[in-house]
Amino acid sequence: MNEVLSKPIGIFDSGLGGLTVLKELKLTLPHESFIYLGDTARTPYGSKGYETIVRYSKECANFLINKEIKLLVVACNTASSLALDVLRSQVACPVIGTINEAVNQAVEISKRKKIGVIGTDATIASSVYQERIKSLSLDVEVFAKSCPLFVPLVEQGMFDGEIVDKIVELYLKDFKDKEIDVLILGCTHYPLLKDAIGKYLGLSVNIVECSRAIANEVGGLLSAGSKKANVPKQKTAGDIYYITDGVSRFNQLAQVFLGYDSVSAAKIEL
Ligand code: DGL
Repeated sequence: MNEVLSKPIGIFDSGLGGLTVLKELKLTLPHESFIYLGDTARTPYGSKGYETIVRYSKECANFLINKEIKLLVVACNTASSLALDVLRSQVACPVIGTINEAVNQAVEISKRKKIGVIGTDATIASSVYQERIKSLSLDVEVFAKSCPLFVPLVEQGMFDGEIVDKIVELYLKDFKDKEIDVLILGCTHYPLLKDAIGKYLGLSVNIVECSRAIANEVGGLLSAGSKKANVPKQKTAGDIYYITDGVSRFNQLAQVFLGYDSVSAAKIEL
């Protein structure tokens, strides 16, 4: 096979959240191989400052670039909001972030033109979502809210139950009287709380995640550049997982979430 076609796609997040993107990528692009990096030792990124987030993102990207990837997916909204331009200027392969396609989708489906967006402190403070929505449609009202406790819940494997419901209510009660009809999950960890969020907001609110949009964008980009793998990957080749801490918990949760018999991550230092 052509050397470029067989190269893996690199994908990183601060922890488990990027698996929501990986899962969709693997469904949409079954012939591709992936190298996943979760910076679990330093999660959450969302409560850190700009310089730290950019530095961490560069370190993750460099690690994956050294694995000779053909494309980099920044499966972290916090890194996409603050570091995407820096990464694009420093990395030779195409770099895909989480934000634009999810916003396009949200604006397209919102009938009431009232969109909610939730994310980490850093993502919401960056206003990247708010500005991108406004750039597409000035008459959309945007309600943004950071939900800093959601990421630790997910990293602990707490996706439902009484505590989760209480925290969902704490953050989302402000949306109740705003009449939003679309909520963007502006953090790749949040789809793991989608049931609890959906239950609280009810059926009148459409929930938009970035994963499907990213998978389509990656597929389109690979096809356009004739870089799409075109033969089934070796069953034994598998995908590779690296994390910076907490191997056994990651393996356990990733296994359940991705639906595999086993996931075996290697611990690395960045
Ligand atoms: N999953 C990430 C995001 O999409 C990072 C969350 C965090 O580390 O705070 O923002």
